[in-house]
Amino acid sequence: MFCITSINNKNFIMKKQKNDVLLKKLSWEEFNKLSPGKKIKFYESKGRIFDALYSQQFSRPLLEKLFAIATKIRFIAKEKPGLDWLQSLLSNKRAMLYFVQPSTRTFVSFQSACFILGMRVSEIRSTSTSSELKGETPEDTIRTFSSYVDLIVMRHFLEGMVEKSAWLLNNTKRPVRIINGGSGRDQHPTQALLDLYTLNYSFLMRGGIDNKKIAMVGDLKRGRTVRSLTYLLKHYKNIEIIYISPEYLKIEDDIKNFLKKNKMKYKETDDLQTALKYADAVYMTRIQDEYDINNESKDIDYTRFHLKYENLKLMKKDAIIMHPLPRRAEIDTAIDNDDRAMYWRQERNGMWIRAALIAYMFAIEDIILNFGENYSLKR
Ligand code: CP
Repeated sequence: MFCITSINNKNFIMKKQKNDVLLKKLSWEEFNKLSPGKKIKFYESKGRIFDALYSQQFSRPLLEKLFAIATKIRFIAKEKPGLDWLQSLLSNKRAMLYFVQPSTRTFVSFQSACFILGMRVSEIRSTSTSSELKGETPEDTIRTFSSYVDLIVMRHFLEGMVEKSAWLLNNTKRPVRIINGGSGRDQHPTQALLDLYTLNYSFLMRGGIDNKKIAMVGDLKRGRTVRSLTYLLKHYKNIEIIYISPEYLKIEDDIKNFLKKNKMKYKETDDLQTALKYADAVYMTRIQDEYDINNESKDIDYTRFHLKYENLKLMKKDAIIMHPLPRRAEIDTAIDNDDRAMYWRQERNGMWIRAALIAYMFAIEDIILNFGENYSLKR
């Protein structure tokens, strides 16, 4: 039995090494054509995520581990001795926040997450202030960062640039970790993590996320957060997703195929009022008119997909309202003080779960999770 296991294990390792070598031999164009499932191993090292690029990289056990780390970090950071201790954990590491697309929450929450763990942070927020203005390619810019830092968090306007950067650095002698900070119309995986962490927190006393009905409202065609969140909801039992949008902004076929393949229940409608009576969570999104080709958003009556104060009476008493933010008029500000409004907490959760992700990627999660058992602070 032992021998068979060893042989199987050896075969597995040899096969994996062969696959890794084969993957490394591919050009970017060849590699990029592979499905996420085939590429995931290339973004791992020593059995853990090395580059966090898309939601499909997260399993349910890993999600639960990240929730536990985030909650523990939040608890430890409450008092100065705890925060001082956390800040010693990665004080030998440096991060580059390369955000050359607009961002408030993701940028500041990653910056804060790095501070919580003691990382030194550099930032570039526009290609007009980097040597890209002098003609340096984005690829050379990324490679330059890898000379100075241990982690790059990226939001880039070029489609696929985050993944290409990870591929590029993994083919050098000095790969550094990359996190997708929500690029272009690509995914926004850390937003999905904070959304899921918020759902988990909100439904803690109601059996968790399993069996919940989640309404996603608005621009589902171009909103990367609904895509990334849908991928993660696959890990939960008996979920039903209700997609509510104008005809032109319906969720796209690749996501519907994903839902069918994974036998996930979903409905599509443009009737927000009816869905509000039914949903346990209502996830609002703004119209993503920055991706318009011919100013087409101006012809869409998006007001039908706004949550108004008077709609609150339609909702379940214990339902929650979420929004990745920024918002325009999708949620009445009068709703902000309702107990069901979870979007400000959701925003703060971003900082904790991003700190948890960084802690996991640098393999310091056990020391955090064991805090209080193996470590005590002198107060
Ligand atoms: N939700 C989100 O990604 O917000 P920012 O664009 O402000 O980072």
